[in-house]
Amino acid sequence: MQTRILVAYASKYGSTKEVAESIADTLHENGLAVDLKPGREVRSLENYSAVVLGAPIYILHFHKDAQGFLSRHHEALTKLPVAFFALGPLSNEAEEWKEVRVQIDKDLAKFPWFRPVEIKIFGGKFDPKNLRFPDNLLIRLPASPIHDMPASDTRDWTEIRSWASSLAALF
Ligand SMILES: Cc1cc2nc3c(=O)[nH]c(=O)nc-3n(C[C@H](O)[C@H](O)[C@H](O)COP(=O)(O)O)c2cc1C
Repeated sequence: MQTRILVAYASKYGSTKEVAESIADTLHENGLAVDLKPGREVRSLENYSAVVLGAPIYILHFHKDAQGFLSRHHEALTKLPVAFFALGPLSNEAEEWKEVRVQIDKDLAKFPWFRPVEIKIFGGKFDPKNLRFPDNLLIRLPASPIHDMPASDTRDWTEIRSWASSLAALF
């Protein structure tokens, strides 16, 4: 079978989509055939030899479209190498990154059959001006993880491309 990679993503405000695009471009530059698609539009994994799945974290859980992707493609995903990445941390504080990893592991524990070859966390992008309802209410809620959070973009494009290159070698 020809090596064709699917890069599937969930994204609400576009920042995870941009990371997925960069990963797809890097895999392509490394000589691999790549399809880039929103996870909810993927009907079958029949033509793929590996999958990269990406999702942002919202209120302690990764995006439901990625959870839906795992449920829908359960059987096919047990037979393919899958690299998983999540976007979330909005600061460079080590504690926040550790906490996000704990949250991801908890969500992934709902899919005990899922054995990703990689789990990677990238910083996220946040702009309070762009938030739609109900997210725009959370910024005012003291108990919420984004309470009073300023705009930021902690995506490290060098690290993203370097991770994607390492996947190209792996796949
Ligand atoms: C309403 C809201 C809740 C969020 N909750 C979390 C969270 O619990 N943990 C976290 O690490 N990041 C959280 N984030 C940060 C997002 O994961 C980050 O902004 C990400 O880049 C968004 O991806 P998207 O643009 O693809 O939707 C939150 C962002 C918003 C707007």
